[in-house]
Amino acid sequence: MKRRIIIDCDPGQDDAVALLLAFASPDELDLLGITTVGGNVPLALTHRNARIMCDLAGRQDTAVYAGCAEPMIRPLVTAEAIHGETGINGIDVFEPETPLQKIHAVDYLIETLLAADDASITLVPTGPLTNIGTAIEREPAILPKVEQIVLMGGAMREGGNRTPSAEFNILVDPHAADIVLRCGRPITQMGLDVTHQVLSTVERVERIKALGNSVARATAGMLSFFDRFDTKKYQSKGAPLHDPCTVAWLLKPGLFEGKECNVAVETESELTMGHTAVDFWHVSDRPVNVNWIYGVDADGFYDLLLERLARFGD
Ligand code: RIB
Ligand code: CA
Repeated sequence: MKRRIIIDCDPGQDDAVALLLAFASPDELDLLGITTVGGNVPLALTHRNARIMCDLAGRQDTAVYAGCAEPMIRPLVTAEAIHGETGINGIDVFEPETPLQKIHAVDYLIETLLAADDASITLVPTGPLTNIGTAIEREPAILPKVEQIVLMGGAMREGGNRTPSAEFNILVDPHAADIVLRCGRPITQMGLDVTHQVLSTVERVERIKALGNSVARATAGMLSFFDRFDTKKYQSKGAPLHDPCTVAWLLKPGLFEGKECNVAVETESELTMGHTAVDFWHVSDRPVNVNWIYGVDADGFYDLLLERLARFGD
């Protein structure tokens, strides 16, 4: 049975690869639509970049929606220093054929979920959670329709990547993250603790490039740009492929290790704003609300990614 999913994203090179991985997996995933949010770069660029990925994948039929340009309460923080001024530096951008849908992403989420059967749609957020949090706050009746939420965000042992305490997606919109984490639906959360284990090393990027199709070449180009920041900062061997971990988990959950925990988010202190408090050892009386993913077979992840990228024609 195919899993019906909606990917909510802020492309960003890693979001882009998550979209391509989903497009390459039609036997397992029915991508109902893509919703976009302000994050890595402003909304006008994130929805354009998502549509560029649809064009590259030959999926100009995909419904792409623009959502919230700004977080629910805080001002937008972006990440051009990491992703480049286009958000997907490493490939040439262009005006895509894939159209932008007319309705707002939050309206699309609410209408689609209200019309769906119970527990029938999986939400896959890979950017700030503004669209999802806004939809839940505006229309809580959508929640029974959500099968589960598989999100990229947060950190435990790895610490923050945008502040000492907070990972970027959660930091940008901690109030939306708080709504999502308290929503009561099953959540699988991929934080930096797992995404920092899937590094796009030179060898892995070369393997992707050697696949020889246009999508693989574009992926290699984006990853070659995307890794320059993290490798300098972390002295690591490549940039972490954060967002594709969500789609890879949907395809092959056995590649990952997780633990049921409580995860709560700081929404008051400026010093630790957006911090995810992961109760890994169950030392609090806070209820379990998340399957916290902390381990991955990185080689298996890249084998999956390459096998799927190889499916694209030229
Ligand atoms: O902290 C990493 C996350 O922030 C990724 O989703 C990346 O695309 C950015 O949105
Ligand atoms: Ca992202």
